[in-house]
Amino acid sequence: MGNFKIEKATTTRINNVDWDNLGFGVFFSDHIFVSDYENGKWDEGKIIPYGPMPIEPTMCTLHYGQSIFEGLKAFRDVKGGINIFRPDKNAARLNHSGSRVCIPPFDEKTFVEAIKELVRIDINWVPKKRGQSLYIRPVAFGTGNFLGVHASSTYRLIIMTSPVASYYPEGLNPVKILVSSEYVRAVRGGLGSAKTAANYAASLLAGTLAKKNGFSQVLWLDGVTRHFIDEVGAMNIMFVINDELITPSLEQGTILAGVTRDSVLTLAREWGMKVSERQITIDELIEAYETGKLQEVFGTGTAAVISPVGLIQYNDKSMIINNMEIGPIAQKMYDTITGIQYGELEDVHGWNVHIDI
Ligand code: COI
Repeated sequence: MGNFKIEKATTTRINNVDWDNLGFGVFFSDHIFVSDYENGKWDEGKIIPYGPMPIEPTMCTLHYGQSIFEGLKAFRDVKGGINIFRPDKNAARLNHSGSRVCIPPFDEKTFVEAIKELVRIDINWVPKKRGQSLYIRPVAFGTGNFLGVHASSTYRLIIMTSPVASYYPEGLNPVKILVSSEYVRAVRGGLGSAKTAANYAASLLAGTLAKKNGFSQVLWLDGVTRHFIDEVGAMNIMFVINDELITPSLEQGTILAGVTRDSVLTLAREWGMKVSERQITIDELIEAYETGKLQEVFGTGTAAVISPVGLIQYNDKSMIINNMEIGPIAQKMYDTITGIQYGELEDVHGWNVHIDI
């Protein structure tokens, strides 16, 4: 158990939650974890009631975007207790992201302990239905007040939680995605492999235009040649071509090292599938489609879990995948990963951090 100061909320907002219509990131639990960085170190952290925080107009993050975040989930185990899925991976990735935008590293064990303690305190906020979970959102940002462009010397880490259902209203039904040939999300040497607020800001315009045209998300191509497929922004992308699972590799530094991505690749290899992490061009994808070799496309992410893709639109080319139906690999991945998360399947990899209640 962590050694955090705890200030309990005197009232709860849990009665305002519409458990049948949770949506994603709409309701926020009663408590948050907060740690501040000052004089070269993070303080021991505290758990306090959720609520507004005063900021000054000069807070550097508002101006220069020195902000990173994470996303992970807690699930009700069918055998009792709560499972937090692979929080150590998020702790490590938070620090990877921080290193790219000069945010000092946070102790990874303390990060996991803080999450466990926060989930324990707001245990009633962990939803009870299959398909629902408690989304955990850590965010860290510069808190200095100045207008010169430089890294802050003070920071805040906040961890909040939110009971959620599926990220896309489509649930497990296939989504439609639009390949952006105009805008790019990341370039080599840029922020693409870091989970920074700026990456998501870069995606908003193309995302808005895509939504207006009936697409759920944008599929990003690389920022230089605009031929290589990167990711979807809210999820990594996987293709099943000729029985081989192919996903863009991490080496270019332009995509996020997704925790679900890693879980899917681990499972696929264990199942004996041919798995390739490599660069793949949009032209190769079109050719696989035209020759009937493109069997499945799905996205992977903490929020999205496994999200089958039913249509990819690239300029005038529409590719309808697997007849707009979820394919067998995506279904098996979804069943296996969620089965482990809800404690229905044996967690042979030790991915769950279990909390007894
Ligand atoms: C997640 O899957 O946790 C994400 O960060 C995607 C999105 C909600 C930003």
